[in-house]
Amino acid sequence: MSLKKILVIGALGQIGTDLTQALVRKWGVAQVVTADLKSHSLGESLTHEAFDVLDLQQLQQIVEQHKIQEIYHLAAALSAKAEQNPKWAWELNLKSLLNVLEIAKEKRIRVFWPSSMAAFGPSAPHPAPQDCRMDPTSVYGISKVAGESWCAWYHQHHGVDVRSLRFPGLISWKTPPGGGTTDYAVDIFHAAIANRPYTCFLSEDTRLPMMYMPDAVRAIQELMDAPASQITIRHAYNLTAMSFTPKELAEAIRERLPEFSICYKPDFRQAIADSWPRQIDDHVARRDWGWKPKFTLSSLVDEMLQGVRSLA
Ligand code: NAD
Ligand code: SER
Repeated sequence: MSLKKILVIGALGQIGTDLTQALVRKWGVAQVVTADLKSHSLGESLTHEAFDVLDLQQLQQIVEQHKIQEIYHLAAALSAKAEQNPKWAWELNLKSLLNVLEIAKEKRIRVFWPSSMAAFGPSAPHPAPQDCRMDPTSVYGISKVAGESWCAWYHQHHGVDVRSLRFPGLISWKTPPGGGTTDYAVDIFHAAIANRPYTCFLSEDTRLPMMYMPDAVRAIQELMDAPASQITIRHAYNLTAMSFTPKELAEAIRERLPEFSICYKPDFRQAIADSWPRQIDDHVARRDWGWKPKFTLSSLVDEMLQGVRSLA
């Protein structure tokens, strides 16, 4: 395992916080540079660059200065925020990706970039297969399908080693979620631990694919560690761990905290959720690089309650 210099862009977000810790554990603090619009650092000894990934010149400078060999590009507008500000979301999600892919092409840098189940639209079969007609109806989903195509194009035409996963909703407790449609599945735990009733912005029977963050971080690392010869998908691999509804999640919490109460007031995010698949078929990821989730709904709820409680 030869040492490499890694840049995590969007490191202070929900995935970045957990992924950075895992990368530092694996490669050592000197090998990892974090970057984000926000200026605080994830750790005293970590090198952090506060910058805007839309600034190509600054990105080039950072890559050259730190001799970066691998980029995890996580900065993006998530689904709910993107729907409220489409032009900003398109610019951030696509221009930033093109900036990263251009530099990757020039400097032979490996790239991880996350796609999403949002790339699927209402015509996707259930479970959503690896390949089918992609007709997303959300701004965010449109940006993910376009991003996937750019990744495949840079790989095919320029040999860029870029790898991607279509994540389901990710659930974690270290960092608040960044404005997505699956955020309810994080917020609900904070309400439960604070002994507050929770008003869910999706209807009780909205079934969506989900994953606990440690599984997502492990999936990123396993994908990036796999030999290139095993990677048959260069747009993005389907990935999932479980699927549940707000009602099922609330019941699992109530089994542990009987006082917990929930009501449902669907808002504009309901239409986004309704356009996404209820289940995902990830057998290609399992076949190509051995993907297997560890966490179930029950173990996720146990860990989330413990994690959120530790913040209090
Ligand atoms: P997040 O919103 O929590 O974090 C994004 C980070 O990027 C933030 O810290 C933000 O400050 C930073 N950022 C935003 N604009 C920037 C800019 N111009 N320059 C530099 N930094 C900037 O997002 P996340 O949940 O960690 O998601 C990361 C990636 O994973 C995104 O591409 C998202 O679409 C994808 N994804 C997330 C989920 C999920 O459930 N969290 C699911 C599927 C896919
Ligand atoms: N969790 C993300 C969102 O809701 C899915 O990509 O936006």
